[in-house]
Amino acid sequence: MEIIIRDDYASVSQQAAVAVADLLRAQPQAVLGLATGSTPLGLYQELIRLHREENLDFSQVTTFNLDEYVGLAADHPQSYHYFMHDNLFRHINVPHENIHIPDGTASDYRAFCESYEARIESCGGIDLQVLGIGSDGHIAFNEPGSSLASRTRIKTLARQTIDDNARFFDSVDDVPIYAITMGVGTILDARKIILLANGANKASAVADAVEGPVTSMCTASVLQNHPDTIFFLDTEAADQLKMADEYRWIQDNKPGAP
Ligand code: PGA
Repeated sequence: MEIIIRDDYASVSQQAAVAVADLLRAQPQAVLGLATGSTPLGLYQELIRLHREENLDFSQVTTFNLDEYVGLAADHPQSYHYFMHDNLFRHINVPHENIHIPDGTASDYRAFCESYEARIESCGGIDLQVLGIGSDGHIAFNEPGSSLASRTRIKTLARQTIDDNARFFDSVDDVPIYAITMGVGTILDARKIILLANGANKASAVADAVEGPVTSMCTASVLQNHPDTIFFLDTEAADQLKMADEYRWIQDNKPGAP
């Protein structure tokens, strides 16, 4: 794992956008795995800016989102369909037919989840997966206890996640308790992974993920087993890392560093 610590959220977002843009310029037909939540908003704003000002092209890109609440239709303001269109897709030139987001209203969830996995495979797999991290260490909605080999399926949200996400709803009772989510195994199949985290409320989960044991109690810790993962952290999210100074030193002394 590579750990990149930046002073603030803007710089984390900007650096992550460079990673995505570099891939798209080298590989215009890339398959992107995308995340929702407050964390990637700055990354998406920067990608929109690069599209508008520097012609970053999404016309051949395919996307797969990590998850969606069960029971929320695509036009529900808190659905992840709505979030992605509002915060990214309607501002860039990715073709509508290339966008994939789990269907929270599927009539047969099991069949839907199998078809989602098959669709990822038929598109050649995910080249770069964007992740946030939950305060309980989850990636996508793979809550503590999720199998580290899991595939796309329905999960019951942890109560902590429901509480964390209540800020987006009128009340905590309105937060759906189920979601369709890519599994940990699905995520690990991505060729490259970037995880973004900012703020003090992520510091403990980040420390568990980077420096703790690999355990289903913190599903992000499985990224230690992935060959090409970068954590982009602000100083607050990196605050509980025992080796933070070492990670900074490594970055300053990377081959080719100025
Ligand atoms: P957040 O959520 O970006 O809104 O903090 C992250 C997550 O739950 O994965």
